[in-house]
Amino acid sequence: MDSCLIFAGTSNVELSKKIVKYLNKELSPINIYRFKDGEICVKIDENIRGKDVFIIQSTCPPVNENLMELLITLDALKRASPRRVTAVIPYYGYARQDRKDQPRVPITAKLVANLLVTAGADRILTMDLHAPQIQGFFDIPVDHLFAAPVIIKYLREKKFKNPVIVAPDVGSVKMARAFAKRLPGGLAIVDKRRESPDKVEMLYVIGEVKGCEAIIVDDLISTGSTMIQAAEALLEKGAVEVYGSCTHAVLAGDAIEKLNNSPLKEIIITDTIPHQNLPNKFTILTVSELLGEAIKRIHLETSVSSLFI
Ligand code: R5P
Repeated sequence: MDSCLIFAGTSNVELSKKIVKYLNKELSPINIYRFKDGEICVKIDENIRGKDVFIIQSTCPPVNENLMELLITLDALKRASPRRVTAVIPYYGYARQDRKDQPRVPITAKLVANLLVTAGADRILTMDLHAPQIQGFFDIPVDHLFAAPVIIKYLREKKFKNPVIVAPDVGSVKMARAFAKRLPGGLAIVDKRRESPDKVEMLYVIGEVKGCEAIIVDDLISTGSTMIQAAEALLEKGAVEVYGSCTHAVLAGDAIEKLNNSPLKEIIITDTIPHQNLPNKFTILTVSELLGEAIKRIHLETSVSSLFI
């Protein structure tokens, strides 16, 4: 792993440190600073000529700052003649704008893909994309990991008597089915109707949840409305307790307070997005080993696909 250098942007230093710890490495030196007018400047403080370079940066809030910082860092790296640059993006922001669902709107997930490649990424390593087809927005290799193995391991330790995995909307059914198969447990779907980007309305619960421990699985929690309304609908249908789980805890606005005051018994998230001092109701699992292992296999050019489960 000597010719592999790993740099971290400022968005998720804690996760980056855990990743290099798993790999028995140190983060390589980089100086990221702001000019007085807010412009970002980056100085790579190590020779990277001919090296296999990884830059870890989640494009989480503040998303525009973190994205721009990643683009500028990629530019700095590319101009220093490395052999290859892999952008490790544990959380890929703007992923929800992945299609034209109404006239005259952007496809920002594609724009971001174009920007990353133009800036200098030769390869992308990411996790639980909101829409898996975003991989196809890139004409460079994309390794797409899932946090499911980490979350399922934790859920199994709870030794549920009668668990049912719940998709809080149709878009999450594939993810829920994978969880249900591997936990194992039953499968249910909450039929979610969205009134506006920040307001949802729950209608029906499809599947048997009465007397079950319900575990809602989603790729992300933003305002928390989806999770909370799904939990309320499940309790109304007779679930004995409801857990929420997601890979990316965006937790926008007053989501933390809302979720903490909700009937959800526990909210299980990962560290793709950093959070400090969350209430006890939140359990943070680390995906550092998964990402670290993927970095190792990419560098050693061994198969990464066994991690895609
Ligand atoms: C929707 O398609 C996603 O999978 C999430 O369910 C959604 O983005 C969560 O948003 P919020 O927490 O604001 O309801």
